[in-house]
Amino acid sequence: MGSRIVGTGRATPPTAVTNNDLARVMDTSDEWVRTRTGIAQRYLLRSGESLVDIAARASRIALDRAGLKPADLDAIIVGTVSSEYAFPSFGCQLQRQLGATSIPSFDVAAACAGFVYALSVTDAMMRAGDYSRVLLVGTDALSTMLNWEDRGTAVLFGDGAGAVVMVTEPGPRGVLASLLRSAGEYWNILSVRSTGIRATLDSEVRRAPDDGMKMKGPELFKLAVRSIADICKQVAERAGVPLSDIALVVPHQANLRIINAVGERLGLPPEKVFTNVDRYGNTSSASVPIALDEALEAGRIRDNDLVMLNGCGGGLTWGANLIRW
Ligand code: ACO
Repeated sequence: MGSRIVGTGRATPPTAVTNNDLARVMDTSDEWVRTRTGIAQRYLLRSGESLVDIAARASRIALDRAGLKPADLDAIIVGTVSSEYAFPSFGCQLQRQLGATSIPSFDVAAACAGFVYALSVTDAMMRAGDYSRVLLVGTDALSTMLNWEDRGTAVLFGDGAGAVVMVTEPGPRGVLASLLRSAGEYWNILSVRSTGIRATLDSEVRRAPDDGMKMKGPELFKLAVRSIADICKQVAERAGVPLSDIALVVPHQANLRIINAVGERLGLPPEKVFTNVDRYGNTSSASVPIALDEALEAGRIRDNDLVMLNGCGGGLTWGANLIRW
């Protein structure tokens, strides 16, 4: 018995912020951001908005498409590092919003690898036999963890949520293999002290510079390209599938240059790699499920296609999943 995705959904805060909007409040330019990252705009949470509401919206769309109701679920698992509370978890807050009572709900924290980590955990739980209908959400609001005075990180991130509904199913379709890795020795290449959501772009409350995100961009760039390319090769090998058979890679959307460099290392033509980083920026745990939902909507994935997901982020954490759709 394996696990298969039968419904997807996505949601973002309503406010789209372009590079030119940011250039009005900090020393940057549309040209710099586009050429270094491929990002043109991102959606940002505003003061008073709740990421749980946004995740609940994405979840309801995914449940509708799966033909299920919250009461049908056996578990809720959330890839996130953006819970406003240390506890209750984001999963419990989402459970309350959806009204799905008496089922386990919990978070998986792996920063930008959050969704691939949580998908691997979900698949393993479902294969073990106790759970047959699981809501899996990737959601983050890293914009609230930035030091808005640091233009090197402030332009990179956006907020949002992507959701998938997974069911157990016999047969060849579903998750074929997942691989996860971490390297804590690189902890200080990308880090945020844990103080909860608060510093939206329009808020008076700002993090002290010491609490905001710290990133060593060029080092992270190189590590990300190498780690993601390696894990994609390894997960394909584990599933016994040649990379050339993969119909579509849905990568973590951090930076177009990282995505292109990984595609080249894997020998994949650009049409086999889905990108939407131009419109969302880096939404961390949300990036893969948002991209997956858009790829499906655009007709880029057909039944029985081999689809590869990947992610890499603070930790350092990285991983990949291979799915027969
Ligand atoms: N606007 C204008 N200029 C800027 C900005 C900005 N927003 N940010 C930095 N600069 C300046 C710098 O100050 C520097 O100026 P200097 O040469 O006068 O000192 C110059 O631009 C070049 O800066 P670099 O850091 O060398 O630029 P680089 O080409 O490395 O690009 C970037 C920076 C985009 C951050 C890149 O290193 C990168 O993408 N790294 C990966 C980071 C990432 O994706 N993090 C997301 C989380 S991890 C993950 O998801 C994989």
